[in-house]
Amino acid sequence: MDSISEIKNYLETNRPRFINELTEFLAIPSVSTDPSSKEDCLRCAKWLLAHLESIGMRGELKFAETGYPIVVAKPAADGQTSGRGVTIYGHYDVQPVDPVELWDSPPFKGEVRDGRLYARGAQDNKGQIWYVIKALEYLHKTGKLAGKPITLCIEGQEESGSEVLAENLQKLKPEIQAATLLVCDTGTLSPHAATITMGLRGIAHCTVTVTGPNKDLHSGVHGGVARNPAQEISRLIASLYDESGRIAVAGFYDGVTEPTAEEIALASAGAPSDEDYIKMVGAPAFGGEKGRPLAVRGGLRPTLEINGVHSGYGGAGSKTIIPSVAIAKLSMRLVKGQDGARVLAAVKRHLVERAIGVSVAVTEERVGGPALQVSPQSESVKRVVPCLKELMGGEPIFRWEGASIPIVSELGAVSGAEPLLVGFGLEEDNIHAPNESFAIQQFDRGFIFACRALMALTVL
Ligand code: BES
Ligand code: ZN
Repeated sequence: MDSISEIKNYLETNRPRFINELTEFLAIPSVSTDPSSKEDCLRCAKWLLAHLESIGMRGELKFAETGYPIVVAKPAADGQTSGRGVTIYGHYDVQPVDPVELWDSPPFKGEVRDGRLYARGAQDNKGQIWYVIKALEYLHKTGKLAGKPITLCIEGQEESGSEVLAENLQKLKPEIQAATLLVCDTGTLSPHAATITMGLRGIAHCTVTVTGPNKDLHSGVHGGVARNPAQEISRLIASLYDESGRIAVAGFYDGVTEPTAEEIALASAGAPSDEDYIKMVGAPAFGGEKGRPLAVRGGLRPTLEINGVHSGYGGAGSKTIIPSVAIAKLSMRLVKGQDGARVLAAVKRHLVERAIGVSVAVTEERVGGPALQVSPQSESVKRVVPCLKELMGGEPIFRWEGASIPIVSELGAVSGAEPLLVGFGLEEDNIHAPNESFAIQQFDRGFIFACRALMALTVL
């Protein structure tokens, strides 16, 4: 039997079990951003390692004392390894489920409806890492795994800043050396075509706290006298942008170069039209810098986003107060040439300098990681293009993605491996939102791709 039919047969025979096992994985609420889920994150890592050990891998939980271990595993059989090395990166943590009342089925109880598996993490990233793990199982069961220089490195804090991994990268260095760093945590533009992601933006975050009076004040007694933190944070936030949508923070664009024609072509591949965008999200694409095309704004230019603003009363009816504090959560998407720490410092300076009659504190400053650019000459990309053509019956799309997988740049540098980003997620998967799901058909494609790619990438 040729290899592709063997892979498809294996999938047909085992798919129900794959989905059942994935459902067990999804039932562990490993929400790394929520400290109260810390034990679940540890439990999730343990579950994952036990599963890997049942399919021919051997590994350990690294830095388990932190509560967010990194699962590192390699093929178990002793003896010579030979071949080109592949390190696989993924994450077992997930985003919070709020607002939970908008889910049609419980977020940690996987449910298949109309060919999709619904649960938090069904796609990002448990579902996508699962097809890779099942591809390792296939290799094991067919005697092709032993001796392959494959290393799995699955962390538990991608959604919250990859702290443990970032701090311990050097310690992992010897184990993660490889030629390819395979990451299946991205999407494809269409279910009819495969996508290779050639660039990702980096990310930095911070929290801004504006403090005024030492308690909420009566807005009749103190209105017109006390400086209002809600008003002040609104003014400060508005000052971050100019009329054209350009970021008005001195130094923000330092190091940023204009995108090249080649990059623009990559970013434009499959980008939605303005009309399609409205259909997709229910609102027009009027964000960002005026005069630049949607594809450029959405991937090749840096941004400063307000992720949340909170102050005072937001409940039913009214409450006449001047709130004592106001808080905003900001994140910045970084492009090549930008240094996250310098960008954060520039934003902080901008806000603190402009405050009037309130105190401004910028805290929880975190640089997730710099932007990533995959070389167009990448050997890893060349090796998987035929696998993707065979799978989808057409050329893959090369594209630039606006989202971030913050640690990938540094992981690539430390492992000496070329990042290779191929994923099968779709916009309708609702990642990070209520009713996250993953189409079983996309899972299948991911599985077949991973089987073929692991073979193609490891041959010398
Ligand atoms: N899997 C996503 C990244 C992604 C999303 C790639 C959509 C391609 C298309 C990843 O898990 C993610 O959500 N990253 C976060 C990082 C942040 C929480 C530090 C992001 O981009 O917001
Ligand atoms: Zn995510």
